[in-house]
Amino acid sequence: MDLYEAILNRRSHRFYKPDLPPRVVLERIINAALWAPSGTNAQPWELTVMAGRYRDEFVQICSRSLTALMDYLRTQLEEKQQQLIARFFSNLGGAPVVIAVTLFKHPDPHINLANIQSGAALMQNLLLAAHAEGLGTCWMTGVKYVEKDILDYLGKPDRQLLAITPIGYSAKEPPVPPRKDREVRWLGFD
Ligand SMILES: Cc1cc2nc3c(=O)[nH]c(=O)nc-3n(C[C@H](O)[C@H](O)[C@H](O)COP(=O)(O)O)c2cc1C
Repeated sequence: MDLYEAILNRRSHRFYKPDLPPRVVLERIINAALWAPSGTNAQPWELTVMAGRYRDEFVQICSRSLTALMDYLRTQLEEKQQQLIARFFSNLGGAPVVIAVTLFKHPDPHINLANIQSGAALMQNLLLAAHAEGLGTCWMTGVKYVEKDILDYLGKPDRQLLAITPIGYSAKEPPVPPRKDREVRWLGFD
């Protein structure tokens, strides 16, 4: 798949078919994610790929974030969108696999920021590679409200949670949220 096609057409998917993607496909996607750049090449990440009962238990924990999240969403979204998100968080759209990305923590805030940015690069690689493989994803940080529970479940209480993503075959064409006309300045091009 052409890179620009992947970047422009990747979307966040919130409805999934129950079919499990082949492990070899997931491994290709994760390998592409792991080739992301990272500050000082620290590669400060760890991935947990969950299916079956692990996925079910994990989703159950993630769904607890909804209570806290709804307070914020009420200030941001229309009623209908709030309900959509609430349904999504209750079962992650029925995705058969969930990937959690955890990061090393660093006491120096600048280095920790580099760790977080490195993790974000990995996440974007993962999403684009999944799209190229015909799989849907949805980058999620809403579950950070239950970060401690998530880290305990993963057996990584000393890490920080970057984000999670469900991954699987999409069951519904997602909307294309428009992009805002943010400033892009061009200096010295006259
Ligand atoms: C850092 C980050 C956090 C996000 N967290 C959530 C989330 O918790 N729940 C959710 O449904 N979508 C989440 N999203 C997906 C965004 O809502 C989505 O990317 C945005 O609306 C643009 O839509 P698109 O990805 O289809 O282009 C997140 C995306 C990013 C980059």
